[in-house]
Amino acid sequence: MSASREQFSSRTGFIMAAAGSAIGLGNIWGFPTQTASNGGAAFVVVYFILAFLLAYPALMAELIIGRHARANVVTALRGISTGTKSRALATTVGCYGVLIASLILSFYAIVAGWMVTYLLEPIALLAERPDAASWLTGFSFERNLLSMGIFMGMTMAIIASGIQGGIEKWSTRLMPMLLAIMVCLIAYVMTQDGAMEGLKVYLVPDFSQLSPSLVLDAMGQAFFSLSLGVGTMLIYGSYLSNKESLPKLGAMVTLVDSGIAFFAGLLIIPAIFVAQQNGVTVFTEDGQMIAGPDLIFQVLPSLFDSMGDIGLPVALAFFSLMTIAAVTSSISMLEVPVSFIAEETKINRKATTVLVGAVIFGISTTILLNFDQLFGFVIDLTTVYSQPILGVMLCIFAGWIWHRSNLLQEIQSGHPEIVGTLFWKIWPTYVRYFCPILILATFIQSVVN
Ligand code: PHE
Repeated sequence: MSASREQFSSRTGFIMAAAGSAIGLGNIWGFPTQTASNGGAAFVVVYFILAFLLAYPALMAELIIGRHARANVVTALRGISTGTKSRALATTVGCYGVLIASLILSFYAIVAGWMVTYLLEPIALLAERPDAASWLTGFSFERNLLSMGIFMGMTMAIIASGIQGGIEKWSTRLMPMLLAIMVCLIAYVMTQDGAMEGLKVYLVPDFSQLSPSLVLDAMGQAFFSLSLGVGTMLIYGSYLSNKESLPKLGAMVTLVDSGIAFFAGLLIIPAIFVAQQNGVTVFTEDGQMIAGPDLIFQVLPSLFDSMGDIGLPVALAFFSLMTIAAVTSSISMLEVPVSFIAEETKINRKATTVLVGAVIFGISTTILLNFDQLFGFVIDLTTVYSQPILGVMLCIFAGWIWHRSNLLQEIQSGHPEIVGTLFWKIWPTYVRYFCPILILATFIQSVVN
């Protein structure tokens, strides 16, 4: 690739960006709600096992391929393929990844837009505009379109500014804020009545809850949370210096991502029980804990309302947390198609961002216009069906198609002492056999069930 290709300026810059991509609505919303609807701590245990056993090795495959190729996902996969058939497969898989990354962004921007409206609602109330506040939290098409548009605009503005001036700068600013807000919110919730009961549900596992669907949910969640399969981690890896140790950085990102998911559980699950203590309905008629959108947009806002004066700042803090988490993830999704098109066509980054952003805005608008038919469908198509399969394909590229000696050389780069370590001995074989088989087996048995 050209000598002028941008890179992250430092190790911290990369970690902030990659952790920013990984830590998103998937952690703060997805993980606690999945935990709630899968019976609590048993899900947490399975999730952690899968994150390190399956998602981490797959993450490594992306980072290693990306840094070696220093290119977008399509060019990278083609670059490590030598035969005509494997190159054709590379083009197919790469383009499918670009498509899925764009589709994930098209629904993510809608959901993130809702976070923005709930962030603006307390501000409207403070400004004594109750009419605006209720418009912001109503479910009109106009509100959904506007909030999605605002969110897409923020995402595009960051991506248009490039790697160091956009992705790295904003991830480095926003991630510490995210952590600080989260710690304050957890500390506050823990002092409230009912929190301890929630903590128990969250931390004491009931293994009778284990089931194939729990395992599939946990795997899907781990792949989504680590932003895998669609080339986001591959492209971030491609902006990383040769001096860095990939296995270490990958492990750090996995650890930070799982850690924040765990923290989010410490916030949300006890908050549900605090809400119950305050008289908010938190269980459905058949005794299930309310999860999904109702949890975020009904249970928690009712909880904030029931808190008195402090409710407003708490709501502000919570929805800022959600918005920050969402934007550091959405930029990594947009970077996938933008890097592909900019590198393939030589159109400059800003113009490409506007072009791609406009197309995704169009897709999101189509989803909003056909919400009942398309919203759930796009989520399932991308996260349940496509991400794990693309993850398998990337493992196959790393394990089977790529020349073994080049792979080993790339692992050593920036970390020569790795030779002889456990990672060195296990990972290349693991990513070749175990990863694809385990991912496929989990996928098939749960789809069949
Ligand atoms: N990891 C992000 C989250 O947890 C979502 C994501 C998926 C980001 C795929 C990039 C690519 O919300």
